[in-house]
Amino acid sequence: MMDLPETDSEDEIPPGWEERVTTDGSVFYVNHGLKSTQWTHPRTGKKKFVSGNLPFGWEKCVDENTGKIFFVDHENKRTTYTDPRLAFATEEKEHPYDLRQKFDASSTALQILHGKDLSGQVALVTGANTGIGFETARSLARHGCKVIFACRNMDAADEAIKRIADEKADAAKNCDCMRLNLASFADVRSFAEGVIEKYKRIDMLILNAGVFGMDYSTTRDGYETTFQVNHLSHYYLTRLLSKLLGKNSRVIILSSESHRFANLDINNISPETLSPLETQYWSMMAYNNSKLCNILFANELSRLWEGRAISVFVVHPGNMISTDLSRHWWGWKLLFLIVRPFTKSLQQGASTTVYCATARELSGLTGLYFNNCHICNVSDNAKSSELAKRLWDISADMIKAKIGPEACLQ
Ligand SMILES: NC(=O)c1ccc[n+]([C@@H]2O[C@H](COP(=O)([O-])OP(=O)(O)OC[C@H]3O[C@@H](n4cnc5c(N)ncnc54)[C@H](OP(=O)(O)O)[C@@H]3O)[C@@H](O)[C@H]2O)c1
Repeated sequence: MMDLPETDSEDEIPPGWEERVTTDGSVFYVNHGLKSTQWTHPRTGKKKFVSGNLPFGWEKCVDENTGKIFFVDHENKRTTYTDPRLAFATEEKEHPYDLRQKFDASSTALQILHGKDLSGQVALVTGANTGIGFETARSLARHGCKVIFACRNMDAADEAIKRIADEKADAAKNCDCMRLNLASFADVRSFAEGVIEKYKRIDMLILNAGVFGMDYSTTRDGYETTFQVNHLSHYYLTRLLSKLLGKNSRVIILSSESHRFANLDINNISPETLSPLETQYWSMMAYNNSKLCNILFANELSRLWEGRAISVFVVHPGNMISTDLSRHWWGWKLLFLIVRPFTKSLQQGASTTVYCATARELSGLTGLYFNNCHICNVSDNAKSSELAKRLWDISADMIKAKIGPEACLQ
């Protein structure tokens, strides 16, 4: 490769060069000095391409006299011959896992979505009325995505959508709230039936709702609440919505680094350890185990659905982010408050979810765990395919035990 002047960014085009794009989206490079063109970036040697819709507010037009294509930015009232998607061109990968880290712990969900037009796509976010789920839903809706707010409290969901409307009326038009109580299989089932009746496809299924640090309680179905809300009902919901998920759909499951402290393993997994009696219950361990279940479920789901080209990703959003998660005990509330200056903002907490739901470079990948918008290793137990398979079967049996064989598990 030729000697090039120093620059801060290896992506920067050297002086005398210009980046252009063909109508089919391939990026090429023009050297004005040598009057030559090439497909590879003069600095990195890599090929790039652009795909997808134009950014929000842009339109592609053809000059009637010259036949030349130009682009109009209606929001800023500008016209240019340069395809605006060039700013978001993706490098051709030699290997599917060849991912350059573009975002980190400080990135926000809206930075990740910058320039993305998600019109025509449908996302379903559980627990979208508050916390990380709200920031996720709000960010997607602001970029044109239709978002189903799957919430147990309709007043809270309406209030959340009103907050979005106060900020950007158009974004609120993309929000649809539907009632979902994850503490009841019957509710999960009627919610899923409602979604299937109303929607033809889901592009992003975001399993975000969760509870933490609760006193012992059981659901309407008689299972321990943390386990059913965080894992079992999400498992059931995903299987019920299976027919709405198709090629390129993504399932994103909110887990946590807490999964590393779970005590669930292949020797003790059973309905009794997953949903313990009050005498065996410790809220912290119930949460850790439910977050391990989230990863095991994702692993088995990604394996079973690989042939359907559906991507399944698991996310750790950040540590002790100031949300309502700590609401069940004053001690947690105090601790979350004390660490607040050092933790991620809600926008930063939603970034890894939004990245996994929308990043083009993740197409074709599945069964991965992300922290700070980057692939990370999980605990040894979370890697166990045997444990994942056992959890899958036990989960199905536990649902059938309450609903009967007609549980509609697809
Ligand atoms: N905050 C953190 O530091 C952190 C760290 C690691 C992982 N996470 C994970 O991130 C996810 C989101 O947590 P968050 O911090 O945003 O918590 P949050 O503010 O408490 O939000 C939790 C959401 O889940 C909903 N939910 C709870 N029980 C439900 C039920 N039975 N049916 C339907 N929805 C229910 C809540 O609805 P209501 O408002 O009606 O209760 C709320 O919308 C969770 O899965 C959590 O485990 C969070």
